[in-house]
Amino acid sequence: MTLSTIFVEKQKPAKAPLTLHYLGDPVLRQPAQRVNRIDDNIRQLAKQMLQTMYAENGIGLAAPQVGVNQQVIVVDCQPDNPSIPPLILINPEITKYSKDLCVFEEGCLSIPNVFFEVVRPRSIEVTYRDETGKKQKLKASGLLARVIQHEMDHLNGILFVDRVKNSVALGEELRKKGFSLAAVKPIVS
Ligand code: NI
Repeated sequence: MTLSTIFVEKQKPAKAPLTLHYLGDPVLRQPAQRVNRIDDNIRQLAKQMLQTMYAENGIGLAAPQVGVNQQVIVVDCQPDNPSIPPLILINPEITKYSKDLCVFEEGCLSIPNVFFEVVRPRSIEVTYRDETGKKQKLKASGLLARVIQHEMDHLNGILFVDRVKNSVALGEELRKKGFSLAAVKPIVS
């Protein structure tokens, strides 16, 4: 039996098929559950997540952001390049982190217009299932490693603002953009 892969036009659909949830919404804080069966429902979810991500000009999206409590993320670091397919990662696990850290400015579709620098490992190795159920292993560095780590945080109920060190600046910026520092759960490290 051959399972279908997903083809999604990288053109922006007029309207995102799924509704985003924003900082302060408790669905973003629930750990996502493992996907038991990779079936047409999961493939449909992944497809609609990609369409939503493109519609919202994102480069990554995790299922909790559209209110679905499942371990599914989609990533496309080159949304303007139609020849490179996006990534769909189901039940992803990071098996290796580089000791080498780097700083990069992050944003999130669930916290629009808020951008802050976050420190994370520069490169990772990740295992996951693709949309056909096949086990995959990926070495990632640079922007791809950054986006995968950000999206995998979502699967654990963690948001990038939890990792921002300067809480005074963060609080000010969140307030300006209509959010509250009270919705942030700082990670003590
Ligand atoms: Ni995000």
